[in-house]
Amino acid sequence: MKITEPKFDEQEIRLLRQCLDSKWVTQGPMTGEFERLFAARHRVDHALATTSCTAALHLAVLALGLKPGDEVVVPAFTWVTSAHCAEYVGAKAVFADVEEDTFNLDPAALEAAITKRTRAVVAVHLFGLAARMDDIMAIARKHDLAVIEDAACAVGTTYRGIPVGGIGTIGCFSFHPRKVITTGEGGMVTTNRAELAERIRSLRNHGATGVAPGDDPSKPYTMSTFNQLGYNLRLSDIQAAVGIAQMDKLDGLLAERLQRAQNYSTLLCEIEEIVSPSAPEGSGHSYQSYVIRLRDGDRGRRNSVMDHLAAHDIQTRPGTHAVHRLGFYAQKYGLRPEDFPVAANCEDTSITLPIFPGMTDADQQRVVDCLRRALRA
Ligand SMILES: Cc1ncc(COP(=O)(O)O)c(C=O)c1O
Repeated sequence: MKITEPKFDEQEIRLLRQCLDSKWVTQGPMTGEFERLFAARHRVDHALATTSCTAALHLAVLALGLKPGDEVVVPAFTWVTSAHCAEYVGAKAVFADVEEDTFNLDPAALEAAITKRTRAVVAVHLFGLAARMDDIMAIARKHDLAVIEDAACAVGTTYRGIPVGGIGTIGCFSFHPRKVITTGEGGMVTTNRAELAERIRSLRNHGATGVAPGDDPSKPYTMSTFNQLGYNLRLSDIQAAVGIAQMDKLDGLLAERLQRAQNYSTLLCEIEEIVSPSAPEGSGHSYQSYVIRLRDGDRGRRNSVMDHLAAHDIQTRPGTHAVHRLGFYAQKYGLRPEDFPVAANCEDTSITLPIFPGMTDADQQRVVDCLRRALRA
C-alpha cells in the first residue's frame, strides 16, 4: 500500500486537452483561472502560481526585502525549505522548538528566539494542522515581524474558521503529489497586500516591470523593461489545467481525509504506545499527512516498526526532519542535536501512515493490525 496517491479523473483529462488544443501552454489563461479559484477559496486578494512551494517561499523572502544580517525564526521540525528560504537571500534561519502534541511552532520558543535582528517568522502549518496563529500574530505585532505562513501541507485548512494563507503577511502552498491537491510540481503565493503581490508578479517573471514610461505598448518592437533582478518561477498552463480540476475536488478530498483520520484515531485509541495527532481548539486540519508518534519510543524502535510495515507492503515515512540536525545547518551554525530536543524526538519517533483518496476501511484496518503486530514483535 502506497503512503499516498493523487486522485485524477476525466476532468483533469478534459482540461488538459483544452489547454493543449489551445496551443497556449506556458503561464496564461489557465493559470489565471487557477489563481482566481485559489484566491476565492482561501479568501485572499491575491494568489500567484509558482513552480513549487519552495519557489513561493523564495519569492516571499525576496518580496519582503530580507537580506544579509536579518534573522528569520523557523520551527526546528519542518521540511528543509521552510529554513532554506531565509538562507537563499543571505538572511539567517534561527530555529525555535516545536510542541510535541501538534508538531507546530511553540509560541514561547518563538518569542525566546527573537533578537533585534529578527525580521520574520515562518509559521508552518505542518501536516495540514493550523499553527497557533493568534499567539504567533500577537508576537509578530509586538516585535514588528512579517509572518510567512508555510502552508505547503495546508490547502483548505482553516484557523478559527479563516482559511490559512491570508492570516499572516504572505502564504505559501505546495501542489507536490503528496499534498492535498497536486499539479505534479507547483505552488502558490497568497497575500492581501497589493504591493507585495506586484513585486512577486515581477520577481517570478524574470523581474519584468512593464513597458517603460513613454513607450507605446501596442508597437511590435516594444518590450517590457526589467528594473529588478528576477527569476523564472512561473507555473505552466498545462499544470494549471490540472490545478483547476483539482480545486473542484478540494472539498471532497478534504472531507475524505478528515473521515479517514477520524477512523484511524478510533482504531488506534486503545494502543497505549501510540499517540495520534491532535488539534488544539480553533486549529483546523487538512490531514495532508496522518502522523503518529511512539510514546516513550526511540529511533531504533520506530525504525523496527517501519521495517515491519514495509515487510508487509505498507509504505510509511518519518514525519519530517529536525532541520537543525541536517548537515548544512548543524555545520554552518554549530548546532547540536540536543539544542531542539522536541524536534529531535518528533523526528525520531514519528511515523506517517498511508492516507489517500479512495482508501477503504479494510485498508485502514490492515495498517492498524499490522502496526499492532509490529509493536508486539
Ligand atoms: C512544510 C513544507 N514546506 C515546504 C515544502 C516544499 O514544497 P515544494 O515541494 O512544493 O517545494 C514542503 C514539501 O514537502 C513542506 O512540507
